[in-house]
Amino acid sequence: MVARGLATIKTASDAGGWSHATNLLAWYDRHRRKLPWRAEPGESADPYAVWLSEIMLQQTTVKAVAPYFQRFLARWPDVAALAAAPIDEVMREWAGLGYYSRARSLHACARIVAERGGGFPADEQHLLALPGIGPYTAAAIAAIAFGQRAVVVDGNVERVVTRLFAIEQPLPQAKPAIKAATATLTPDVRAGDFAQAMMDLGATICTPKRPACALCPFLPVCAAHARGNAESFPRKAAKTLRPHRAGAVFYLRRADGHVLLRTRPPQGLLGGMAEFPGSAWMAAFDLATALASAPLAAAYRQLDAGVVHVFTHFALHLTVYLGCVDAHIVAPEGTYWVPDDELDRHALPSLMRKVVALVVEQS
Ligand code: ADE
Repeated sequence: MVARGLATIKTASDAGGWSHATNLLAWYDRHRRKLPWRAEPGESADPYAVWLSEIMLQQTTVKAVAPYFQRFLARWPDVAALAAAPIDEVMREWAGLGYYSRARSLHACARIVAERGGGFPADEQHLLALPGIGPYTAAAIAAIAFGQRAVVVDGNVERVVTRLFAIEQPLPQAKPAIKAATATLTPDVRAGDFAQAMMDLGATICTPKRPACALCPFLPVCAAHARGNAESFPRKAAKTLRPHRAGAVFYLRRADGHVLLRTRPPQGLLGGMAEFPGSAWMAAFDLATALASAPLAAAYRQLDAGVVHVFTHFALHLTVYLGCVDAHIVAPEGTYWVPDDELDRHALPSLMRKVVALVVEQS
């Protein structure tokens, strides 16, 4: 037995041959999810597909990623094709997936790998040196694409492991303990399947609410289940309220059917994405500041309600102003006119798509 805080768990050696990995892999062989980036049983994984999917899956759900992954793979079937693509095209395909710095890093990484001959490095350390690849992604690629024994911990794995070991420490402080506990479970062989099995278990059985413990291969050894409080893990520190910000955005039409856009700076939130011109995002809405940021003089109409968008670190409310100018008006510096029926071809983030939807609804 191993004592780990309040939890006592069985290890492979003291459980009469019972091993977490063996039981989990047997469960995975029967219940694995069919996912577009996943190799079929017995087939070897394509490192490009694994890398692409893992970058997309950072902070994004499997359901949201699937159609993007399929479109990227159809359009750019290998790393050389992606490296050769113009960055604007990549940003456009990425639009709507969020966290846009990932798309820039993806492209930068593709270029480096293609320049080096097109093969991804197989070990965590070399993977970590590439743009957009942090500790989780390096471990996931090493394990899933190359079968290396790497300890892979994402949000699903955190939930499974904090329950299995009844780790009382809240997140994020518990992260090192979770990684150490996951390391004790990770097998030398089939490490990629083991990692994906942990993810699938977290996504389908060991769910945040109402986990299906009766179906879980870890049921006999789960410390949280034994205490009857699986759902209360992982423990979380008391929540701080998400701050609010507010701003104004101007949807300016030209009489000949064009709309004014600009491109956000490459660094920072929504970096490099297109947007309708507007004010800075303020701690509290200030009408004078909002109106002073109109790109051109026009008779603006304020739309009802505006747009709300929740980012990770704050919630944003945008007041939307609709205006129209004559066909000959030139775009102010830093902005450009685009035909309104071609807005879809620009890399508009979800926030700006909400603005378009509001304009369509109210005009
Ligand atoms: N989430 C992140 N990577 C994943 C993978 N390879 N399979 C399932 N869910 C995931």
